[in-house]
Amino acid sequence: MGKERVSTGIDGLDMMLRGGLLEGRPYTLIGGPGSGKSILGWQFLRSGVERGENALYITLDEPFYEIKENMTSLDIFDPRIKIMDLSPERMEGGGEVTPLSFLDEELTLQLKKLQPSRVVFDSTTSIKAMELDPVSSRRRILSIMKTLSEHNEEEMPRITSILISEEGDAQFPLESYLGRGVIRLVNRVVRGSRVRALVIEKMRGTSFDEGMRPLGIKVGGIEVSSTDVVINEI
Ligand SMILES: Nc1ncnc2c1ncn2[C@@H]1O[C@H](COP(=O)(O)OP(=O)(O)OP(=O)(O)O)[C@@H](O)[C@H]1O
Ligand SMILES: [Mg+2]
Repeated sequence: MGKERVSTGIDGLDMMLRGGLLEGRPYTLIGGPGSGKSILGWQFLRSGVERGENALYITLDEPFYEIKENMTSLDIFDPRIKIMDLSPERMEGGGEVTPLSFLDEELTLQLKKLQPSRVVFDSTTSIKAMELDPVSSRRRILSIMKTLSEHNEEEMPRITSILISEEGDAQFPLESYLGRGVIRLVNRVVRGSRVRALVIEKMRGTSFDEGMRPLGIKVGGIEVSSTDVVINEI
């Protein structure tokens, strides 16, 4: 139980993870703006649908049509990935319905209906922005993780999920503690050159490559090199 590996859809990252994520667990993906979080999440889902699994992308930030444009520009769009669009653009005009009041009910409903084995939640930072205080945010994020893992108890596929979190002022946001593993994406300009990298900060239940590895974003998606070590200045 729980030892099956789930490919992230990125070979270099799978190698760092000793084969992939542990099936059935919620993970946290953290990074600054434009660091590749949404793309990595998408590739994880795409790897699932390519294996005949169901996959669900929940967006609270970007409207679906923009995600589609972005992924198409990288040639990784896949219409088999199901989208739950709770972006402000989508929710506008919904009267009293707010994304949060809609979320719990809709999430449970969609999980039952679609039976996904992979889910991406983009992003938990939006949850924090909508909740009034840190205690409510924590409760809400825990509840989402619980909903995702609880479905493992029923006669449903085990859900492996990635919850995306924006890098904020806190070095370690609460999602770092709640997720079963944490992957951080780095996107900096160092002495005039852009440095993109990926580091695994935590991964319960497995050993992993502890180094910081270079990452590239191009047509075809994210690539992670598992051989070179990135400069220390970051
Ligand atoms: N077609 C493309 N070719 C090359 N690079 C691209 C292409 N499309 C996007 N990118 C790169 O990917 C970055 C955006 O990736 P992504 O949307 O996954 O970031 P993010 O971490 O989710 O950002 P945010 O926090 O703003 O949501 C862009 O800033 C750009 O550097
Ligand atoms: Mg994004």
